[in-house]
Parts: sequence; structure tokens; C-alpha cells
Amino acid sequence: MNKPLQWLPDGQPYSPRYGDVYRSRTGLAQPQQVFLAGCGLPAAWAGRPTWTVLETGFGLGLNFLTTWAAWRADPQRCAELRYLAVEAHPAAAADLLRSVETLSAADAAGVSLLATVRTLAEELAAAWEPLDAGVQTWVFEQGRVYLKLAVGEAQTALPLLGGPADAVYLDGFNPALNPAMWSEPTLAAVARLCRPGSRLGSWCVAGAVRARLQTLGFEVHKRTGVAPKWHRLEAIYRG
Ligand SMILES: C[S@@+](CC[C@H](N)C(=O)[O-])C[C@H]1O[C@@H](n2cnc3c(N)ncnc32)[C@H](O)[C@@H]1O
Repeated sequence: MNKPLQWLPDGQPYSPRYGDVYRSRTGLAQPQQVFLAGCGLPAAWAGRPTWTVLETGFGLGLNFLTTWAAWRADPQRCAELRYLAVEAHPAAAADLLRSVETLSAADAAGVSLLATVRTLAEELAAAWEPLDAGVQTWVFEQGRVYLKLAVGEAQTALPLLGGPADAVYLDGFNPALNPAMWSEPTLAAVARLCRPGSRLGSWCVAGAVRARLQTLGFEVHKRTGVAPKWHRLEAIYRG
């Protein structure tokens, strides 16, 4: 059954399918602090020929756009940024654009980042015609930024993406509402795309998720979160 995304009165994107919002109300703070900083970025990609990010739950592309904007702003950036993601229900281009209109910057330094995110959202939306299933790629920045999206159920779509990932963003909905995104088979499919030393970030610190990641070979740390969340998760794949 088609259940399109809804917009709440406060501007938050909401999924009636999963009964949860797409992101925290903290604007760019979550992508910057939970996902980029959680994976040691932007410092970790400095001087590298390539850097590969893997995301579970592409959603409205906010983490992708923030990563791309951070890459663009960084004089030490890797030569090529590869972004691999899975998504079961791709959003419409109009929703990708609306998503960045209502955002606020995390801090004064985030103002120019947000302006770049909005510009890049227009570029993404102009090219955005996701398939119902299968793998698609988009190339930006004259071939230096590469987005590969596998549309489908995460557990089966993840192996279609290749790897290895240098950084992993785990961004499903709340595990209580979206258990498939945090299940052992899905996280095992993520681990198979990691290399020793791959970094992982998430806002989710649920005990069962941390235990699964540990069993799969991740060293897991609970860090101070982005308000209103007390904690966020950082992990390193040890293999
Ligand atoms: C919290 S949102 C992701 C937000 C996104 N990272 C962003 O930056 O906008 C979670 C996403 O996971 C997708 N999703 C949920 N369950 C899934 C599954 N089993 N397989 C693939 N995608 C799934 C949802 O459709 C939704 O777009």
C-alpha cells in the first residue's frame, strides 16, 4: 500500500508507514554530530584518494547532502567521495527539496553549510528519478561525488552495493517501530561491507542493537548525544 510521507505542522517529515519522524528536530546538528563526527569526518577522509560512506535508510537524503556539503567545504577532502545507500521507499523529489527548506543551522558555522546543503538539494532533486527496485547511480562534481542507491529491503539490497565502506551511518526509524533495519541479518549485511577500522555512527544506542554490533565484530561506544537525546553511538569494526 502506498503511504506517502506527510509533513507535520511544525515542518517535520513523518512516515505514516512506520509511525516516526525522519530526523531529530535539531536541524543539521544530527547529520553533523551524530553521523559525520561519529565517523571521524571530515578529518578521516583528509588526503585519501577515495572515501566510501554506507547508509542504511537514505530517506530524504539529508545525511548525504550534509556529507557532500562538508566534502565541498573541506580543502583536505578526499579526491573522490562515494556514497552507498539502501532505501525501501524512495521519497519524491519535491519532498527532498521541502526537507531542506525548513531546516535550521546547528550553529553560526553551520549557516554556510546549510546554504550549500540547499544548493546541493536542488542539484539532487533535479536528477532524482528513483526506480521502484534495483540499483541506480548518480554522479556529481564532474565524477568526484558518486551516489549509489539500492532500492529495496535493506537486508537484500545491501549486498548489491559493494564496498568496503570506510564509514557507516545507521539511520533507520526507531527500532521498536522499524525492527528490520536493526535486525541481526541487516546488521550482518552491513558488517560484510566493512573493513577493519571502518567507523560507524548512529543516534540509536538501544542495548539490543549494541549487543548485535558487538557480536558482529564492532567495538561499540556510547557517547554524549545531541539534545534532546542523551547518547549517540560510535563504533569501529574490528573484524
Ligand atoms: C530515519 S529515515 C532516514 C533519514 C535519512 N537518513 C536522511 O538523511 O534523510 C529511515 C529510512 O529508512 C527507510 N527504511 C525503513 N525500513 C527499511 C528497510 N527495511 N529497508 C530499507 N529501507 C528502510 C525508510 O523508508 C526511511 O526512508
